[in-house]
Amino acid sequence: MCGVVGYIGKNNGVPIIIECLKNLEYRGYDSAGIAVINEKKLKIIRKQGKVADLEKAILEEGRSFIGIGHTRWATHGVPSEENAHPHQDCTGKIAVVHNGIIENYLSLKDMLISEGHKFKSDTDSEVIAHLIEKYYSDDIYKAVKESIKLMDGSYAIVVLHSDHPNQIIATKNKSPLILGLGKNENFIASDVPAILKYTNDIIFLEDGDLCQIFNKNIVIRNSNDKIIDRPVKKIDWNYEMAQKNGYDNFMLKEIFEQPRAIQETIISRISEDKGKVYFKEINLSDEKIRNIKRIVIVSCGTSWHAGLIGKIFIEKMARIPVTVEYASEFRYSEPIINENTLVIGISQSGETADTLAAMNEVKKYKSSIISICNVVGSSIARISDGVIYTHAGPEIGVASTKAFTTQLVVLYFFSVFLARINRNISIPQAIVRMKGIRNLQRKVDNVLKLNSQIKKLAEIFYKKKNILYIGRGVGFAIALEGALKLKEISYIHAEGYHAGEMKHGPIALIDKNMLVVVIALKGRRYNKIMNNIEEIKSRHGVVIAIVTEGDERIKKIADYTIPIPDVNEFLSTVLSIIPLQLFAYHIAIKKGCNVDQPRNLAKSVTVE
Ligand code: AGP
Repeated sequence: MCGVVGYIGKNNGVPIIIECLKNLEYRGYDSAGIAVINEKKLKIIRKQGKVADLEKAILEEGRSFIGIGHTRWATHGVPSEENAHPHQDCTGKIAVVHNGIIENYLSLKDMLISEGHKFKSDTDSEVIAHLIEKYYSDDIYKAVKESIKLMDGSYAIVVLHSDHPNQIIATKNKSPLILGLGKNENFIASDVPAILKYTNDIIFLEDGDLCQIFNKNIVIRNSNDKIIDRPVKKIDWNYEMAQKNGYDNFMLKEIFEQPRAIQETIISRISEDKGKVYFKEINLSDEKIRNIKRIVIVSCGTSWHAGLIGKIFIEKMARIPVTVEYASEFRYSEPIINENTLVIGISQSGETADTLAAMNEVKKYKSSIISICNVVGSSIARISDGVIYTHAGPEIGVASTKAFTTQLVVLYFFSVFLARINRNISIPQAIVRMKGIRNLQRKVDNVLKLNSQIKKLAEIFYKKKNILYIGRGVGFAIALEGALKLKEISYIHAEGYHAGEMKHGPIALIDKNMLVVVIALKGRRYNKIMNNIEEIKSRHGVVIAIVTEGDERIKKIADYTIPIPDVNEFLSTVLSIIPLQLFAYHIAIKKGCNVDQPRNLAKSVTVE
């Protein structure tokens, strides 16, 4: 996720654009840049780091009544000045800021290079500036209109041309973009927080809208080039609410962001029809990968639960033995690792002290280290030989949700990647394993539609003092994660347990007061988990079962069932955690807890 802004009007746009960017930094803060037009000349300043670093760099910059700005969440190309937006064309007259991912940027870049265009960055976004240059003759609006016809993927684009200092061009597809209306001034931004300080009159643009923004008026055309009227909405949010895009808190916003987060984590990483997975960011040679005899995953908390599921995928597909270690233990365990061991650090923040220390410990051995992180340029990312970034966007809520599901997606595709390189699965087998991923986003949307049903369940059980979560196989890790979600935001004691262990002790807990959440999806262990439910019911326990849609058998014995679509084992892990996130969320809200900042916790545990 990145933040884009634009300003045109009666005031000096430079401080306004900087202020708008500061209010968008929660969308990304790897680098920032601004482009303004002065006397028909384009002036661009870009800085790696936060908007404050950019602000320092432009203190002496003159005045300008028209400009665009960008704060970056790196998806392609490391955080650097070269990769920072705005990007320019070869003539230096066009400046573009972009939020989204141009999925076909490599083929467009090849075409433009063959036509003589010179590129300076590793980003997908720079392609847009050169495409506009290709189609520009003397009408910047038309050039943008022609360019977007070639682009696949998601974009919110804001464009300047120094020969047209009276207008800004903006358009969107799948990425958010809004207009703010002022008196003799107008604003463009990725979303409301950026411009709330200057105007409450907002136009929410639709996909395909193409806008010419002047200081006194705005012309919006739809994809058929017809001038249209978009309604102006009066926004009465305060700044804090605006950052949550209207959600009551960040956690709920991030639960509902999961379809987009998963989509952006997958995009440009897989070619489903070719059965290919691209992880160029881990720069491990095929030979090095083929020599991996063992994998050790080190992480904490939710990321450790993701590691448990990653173990199952990697062992099943790549047939490489995996151990999943608590980072806090691993670093003191005198690990038995060598040059044929691959160590994988999983960390949303990339700053967890125990995980960082464990990975620094590994440096003493000749093992390869890669990490799965959500924050570009974080400490754990920096000490890794290679990093696979989840593109979940900033996760503000302490309880990890979208980072977890995007970690699962990365781990699954990494398993396919390893299995293809060590030739453990063929291309047809890889294609089978990638089947259904394209509509994972829609399936997640469907599970999110169960929100009100789950809220009702939370209203029944929010006074519980103890809740048990059980599952088998990947369901065991989901049980652990569901229990962690509940305990960390509602302060109810919740325990995740392997269902196969029930008769070895925990079944003694079962009576009419004990609620048991059972991950009971169709699969090889279905009959065993059915037995678990029968045993709980025969001791008057209460059961909520996460089931596969259409399962009538469990409906007959469980007290409540939450159905999720019938998908393969991997997709089931992503779908089955969502009801448990929502269950924990609604119980905590019902109990009046602060879900974004639970007591005693911090988003990133940077101390041991
Ligand atoms: C998860 O909801 C918790 N916030 C916590 O367990 C977290 O997963 C853990 O501290 C690891 O954080 P990391 O992924 O940033 O390393």
